[in-house]
Amino acid sequence: MYTGVFARLYDGLFDNFVEDIDFYVNLGKKVNASILELGCGTGRLTLPLARAGCRVIAIDRQQDMLNILREKLKKETQEVRENVQIIKEDFRKLKYPFGCKFKLILLPFNLFLNLVAQKDQLSALKNIRKHIDDKGLLVIDLNLPNVEKMIKEDGKMKFFYNTSKIHRKTIIEYYCTKYNFPNQTEKVSSIMEEVGSDGTAKKFLTKDTLCFVFPKEMKLLLELTNFNLTDIWCSYKGDKFDYKSNPDFLIYFARPKTKT
Ligand SMILES: C[S@@+](CC[C@H](N)C(=O)[O-])C[C@H]1O[C@@H](n2cnc3c(N)ncnc32)[C@H](O)[C@@H]1O
Repeated sequence: MYTGVFARLYDGLFDNFVEDIDFYVNLGKKVNASILELGCGTGRLTLPLARAGCRVIAIDRQQDMLNILREKLKKETQEVRENVQIIKEDFRKLKYPFGCKFKLILLPFNLFLNLVAQKDQLSALKNIRKHIDDKGLLVIDLNLPNVEKMIKEDGKMKFFYNTSKIHRKTIIEYYCTKYNFPNQTEKVSSIMEEVGSDGTAKKFLTKDTLCFVFPKEMKLLLELTNFNLTDIWCSYKGDKFDYKSNPDFLIYFARPKTKT
């Protein structure tokens, strides 16, 4: 996943998803220090942050995604280019000697769901804990599982499409999700179709396995890795989550536990 054709089509699929950008830019502007953005991909958030004057250390493990970000950066001003440092690394291990602790660490756009094994979730958070400032903020943004909807949609074909400004093509993703509830995983099989303005279409097959995580579980994972869950929002505008409603996604805010 996130290599080859999928990396090339990624912006074509998501370049119109902009709802979260102002939220991250506003958070970034409050921090007068480098931000650590994990799973930066092709820079959907990295570039708006850098354009707003934030210094971003952008981490991803997929060279193909980072190559696209590098190409996009070439078209930016020198100031924006200088605001971005790209590092190819797996954030579960994070060995890079940053030389500083971060005041803001971001795990946006469902990145955490790529951590299918619980040991990976714990090791990623433990590693992040080592790199966060004592007064730092960790922000994790991910889908809230809706079990009723998942049961209804299990194994059924759905589709999503985007007419991309960048690619000047329509990318259609037909996808089928098979849930394993006891193991809290979902296997997504997709056919991506790239349709040109002349009607020609190319099809590609992709497969991915993700996990799903409930709010109380996230609270526990954070506690076990020395964080306090300080807030949960259910919108990018600041609406608080009340454990009663069933919004599509949640934004978790956590701060390091410090010795008293
Ligand atoms: C859903 S994409 C999000 C990209 C970008 N943040 C955005 O909002 O468009 C997830 C990205 O996380 C990267 N990723 C997944 N697991 C990773 C890991 N363990 N370490 C580093 N990057 C990872 C993938 O390569 C991919 O580029």
